[in-house]
Amino acid sequence: MTLGCAAGKVILLGEHAVVYGQPAIAVPVIEVQARATIEPGAAGQGVVVWAPDIGKRVVVREAPDDDPLACIVRHTLQKMSHGRASDLTIIVTSTVPIARGMGSGAAVSTAIVRALTRHFDQWLPSQAVSDLVYQAEVIYHGTPSGIDNTVIAFEKPVYFVRGVTREVFWVGKPFLLAIGDTGIESPTREVVGDLRQRYHADPAGYGSLFERAGVIAVGARAAIAQGQVDALGLLLDENHGLLQQMGVSCPELDRLVAAARDGGALGAKLSGAGWGGNMIALITEETRGRVDLMLRLAGASNVIITEVR
Ligand code: MEV
Repeated sequence: MTLGCAAGKVILLGEHAVVYGQPAIAVPVIEVQARATIEPGAAGQGVVVWAPDIGKRVVVREAPDDDPLACIVRHTLQKMSHGRASDLTIIVTSTVPIARGMGSGAAVSTAIVRALTRHFDQWLPSQAVSDLVYQAEVIYHGTPSGIDNTVIAFEKPVYFVRGVTREVFWVGKPFLLAIGDTGIESPTREVVGDLRQRYHADPAGYGSLFERAGVIAVGARAAIAQGQVDALGLLLDENHGLLQQMGVSCPELDRLVAAARDGGALGAKLSGAGWGGNMIALITEETRGRVDLMLRLAGASNVIITEVR
């Protein structure tokens, strides 16, 4: 039996703008995990992926090209020159909430890559893992920027500019985030597609929102490196305002953001694609209990507290 694991993630700042070439920052969330366990399979079955949580069973050699689980297995086996793998069952389980902007698909794919490489006694650098996972992300999300697979493969805070750079960067002073779930699915592909249509109708207007989000991400990176948590909070608030203007927030997200601020958070914003999913709030040891309570009273279906370091 071989095990591969991967954490979830949240986008700290810069979602959507990152699709248009602006910088963004994402951080891993180790409180949620995807796991892939490899066991010997029945003779002649080939590679089978079994995801009991969602009742999905994929026979890789029979699956269509656009099946993300089969895609990640095929690409990983090709990368390791094991195109004709033996009979294996890969059991996939995950505590990363699905369709909440926490990278559930990328976490499952990363866990599968890690389990397969371990099973075949091989090792891949994080960038190679990220590149493999990107192939499946395209199937899940259409035109992903690549930030999700990057932060999950590196499992460190990353500063990311699509096609230009990805840098694991220094956190001057660890800080706490509360992640509040609206309980509503965030349809990443639809939100990104809808925003693209509106961008094409008004490139100057949306372009300036994206540019401002990029400036905020640059400032946030410096604030994080210097341990200036108050400054980071203000930048989170401003980024949420931009995301509202981009049309990707929703009343439930705005309600949780307001509740977190009322509870004493230093800043709060939606995180991920929007129209549902999660929001994040920058908290301290002193405010964590109150923000957690305020989020739940405002309708959060779950709250996760994570430390960024
Ligand atoms: C999704 O986690 C983040 C978005 O910026 C899309 C992407 O980067 O591919 C909304």
